Amino acid sequence: MKTIHLQHADLTVPNLALGLLRIAELSDDAIRALVATARDAGITYFDHADIYGTRLHDCEERFAQALQLSSSERDRVTIQTKIGIVPDGGYYDHSYEHVVAQAEESLRALGTDYIDVLLLHRPDALVEPQEVARAFDELYLSGKVRHFGVSNHTPGQIDLLKTAVTRPIVANQVQLSITHSPIIAQGIAANAPDSDQSVVRDGGGLVDYCRVNGITIQAWSPFKSGSGETVLFDRERHPGLNDRIDDLAAHYGVEPEAIAAAWITRHPANMQVILGTTTPARIRAAAAGSDLPLTRAEWYGLFRAAGWQVP
Ligand SMILES: NC(=O)c1ccc[n+]([C@@H]2O[C@H](COP(=O)([O-])OP(=O)(O)OC[C@H]3O[C@@H](n4cnc5c(N)ncnc54)[C@H](OP(=O)(O)O)[C@@H]3O)[C@@H](O)[C@H]2O)c1
Repeated sequence: MKTIHLQHADLTVPNLALGLLRIAELSDDAIRALVATARDAGITYFDHADIYGTRLHDCEERFAQALQLSSSERDRVTIQTKIGIVPDGGYYDHSYEHVVAQAEESLRALGTDYIDVLLLHRPDALVEPQEVARAFDELYLSGKVRHFGVSNHTPGQIDLLKTAVTRPIVANQVQLSITHSPIIAQGIAANAPDSDQSVVRDGGGLVDYCRVNGITIQAWSPFKSGSGETVLFDRERHPGLNDRIDDLAAHYGVEPEAIAAAWITRHPANMQVILGTTTPARIRAAAAGSDLPLTRAEWYGLFRAAGWQVP
């Protein structure tokens, strides 16, 4: 498993992580098998959110209860969680009170003394950077949270936070797959006339901004189409792309999941892929994409086969 450096956290982590969004309905045995498969493959980074599951902190609790990590085992994994969405109210809340309270609830649910990385899940239009700063400082100084980041944030929203937040922003978790890659495609078609691809959807230059500022991009839904309803391996919907994926899978002697993961890990921004599968075999298959250096021609070939333009 290839590792990357979470620059501002000074943490070395695998470039594939396992997301626990979908574990609520799994048995404890199935959760243990999933996590054991990931760890055997070198995936020691686990991504949660307070809202995952059928009620707040459901998946965090299921993970902790199934695994019962000893303190030495706990130190060998990296646990990330996200807060800031209020699903019952249908709004976002980055107030000091909400950030601190949710982080503390996540600590309880995860049965741990510290969260390695805490992300603000979605940008809050009513954010007060000073309140986020106060919450982050307090959580950091009490040892409850070691590092902080964001998710689904634009460069401008990160800059706004940085007007008050002094703890480094180590990661920005955003949706990215071969078929859902406007954060990459826009730059390739920038300024092209009559092209929807040149429309800025990410606030502008998100990938470059993260590279310049040492912020690790984490790719959520790496195997999903843009709508989130289908996977990119859906041959009926993406026949040309699957032909390319299958050719490359045969060429490299790997499964299609490895090629889809490699399209992200190949990017020089040193991105981290957040897998969401609940199928152990698919974790093993994807892990082969951790360090599979697609050539430029192969990388762009997949991009074009997904329907993107290379003007
Ligand atoms: N920050 C955010 O706003 C945000 C939003 C969404 C997700 N996330 C994080 O990102 C993680 C990954 O997201 P995700 O679960 O949407 O990602 P994903 O890995 O792209 O999708 C996983 C889903 O695709 C299915 N799948 C995978 N490979 C398949 C194949 N070859 N054929 C058919 N189905 C296949 C899986 O089914 P099986 O389970 O049956 O294998 C599962 O339902 C989540 O766990 C969460 O941690 C973050």
